[in-house]
Amino acid sequence: MTSRIIGTGSYAPAQVVTNDDLAKIVETNDEWIRSRTGIGERHIAVDEGTSHMAVEAAKRAVENAGIDPKELDIILLATSSPDNCFPAGACEVQAALGAERAVAYDLSAACSGFLFALNTVNAFIQAGIYRTALVIGADCLSKLTDWSDRGTCVLFGDAAGAAVVQAADSGLKTMVMGSDGVKGPVLSCVARSEGNFLNGKTPQLGYMYMNGQEVFKFAVKKVPECVNQVLEAADMDIEDVKYFVLHQANYRIVEAAARRLKQPIEKFPMNMDRYGNTSGASVPLLLDELNREGRLERGDQIVLAGFGAGLTWGAALIEW
Ligand code: ACO
Repeated sequence: MTSRIIGTGSYAPAQVVTNDDLAKIVETNDEWIRSRTGIGERHIAVDEGTSHMAVEAAKRAVENAGIDPKELDIILLATSSPDNCFPAGACEVQAALGAERAVAYDLSAACSGFLFALNTVNAFIQAGIYRTALVIGADCLSKLTDWSDRGTCVLFGDAAGAAVVQAADSGLKTMVMGSDGVKGPVLSCVARSEGNFLNGKTPQLGYMYMNGQEVFKFAVKKVPECVNQVLEAADMDIEDVKYFVLHQANYRIVEAAARRLKQPIEKFPMNMDRYGNTSGASVPLLLDELNREGRLERGDQIVLAGFGAGLTWGAALIEW
């Protein structure tokens, strides 16, 4: 027994911000951003937040799967930018869908979040504890961005992606997940900078900090490593993989991974030109795009991989 993705959905806010728009806010330009990252524009949430985006993506995934939300046993929302400390965004999704039977909670693993959530629900399904799950990756990093820092503000966009996963005889074959907390400081965002117990101060929310070159080095080493691990565990030839759906941080990271894996770049679909780095949403957003474009056929072998703050990484080999 394993689990199979039976439906996908995604959502991005209506407001599109181009590289030229950003050049009016910070000293940057379209050429610099495109050549370093592959990003041309991104969607930014104005009047909405992570939960709203998660709900919209979830509704589309449930509709695409053709199930009744009451069939859901578990809703897992991967996010590192929840609207609230509590209640969990997943509980808001549960309420909006009327998925009254489901247990709902959030999981935090930044850009690896969707992979961690997918692998977690798969473990529940394999153990026979749950049968039908909703996995969502949603992030609204625009709210954690210092819009005067050109080194980070050009990279991210807001979005949500979701998948309905159900017990099946074929589907998710092998998975890996890993964490390296020692390297955590290279990519961080402090939630509360200081305690406010009777000190008269208003707690400050932090902005994200990134050492871009360290993250780059980590990603180009780790992605091929975890892709090879899931293939080896399944005794699968890399040539049999149709698509490598990687976290959309940066086209140079994806190109470097393709080179190291000795695979043609055409097997690595990308959409960061239109969405930027959407953190936990990026893998399910791209998967949904491929699904809706009819590019996925039953029996296709697909590798999903995410990497990000923690530091964390995760991969899964799935049969569509
Ligand atoms: N526009 C113009 N110039 C800029 C910008 C910008 N937006 N940002 C930085 N610069 C300048 C810097 O100030 C610096 O100028 P200086 O030489 O005068 O000091 C110069 O460009 C080079 O800066 P670097 O930080 O060395 O630029 P680099 O070539 O490393 O590119 C980048 C930065 C794109 C972030 C790169 O390090 C990278 O791709 N890192 C991977 C990290 C990543 O993708 N993170 C995404 C989030 S993490 C995740 O999803 C896992």
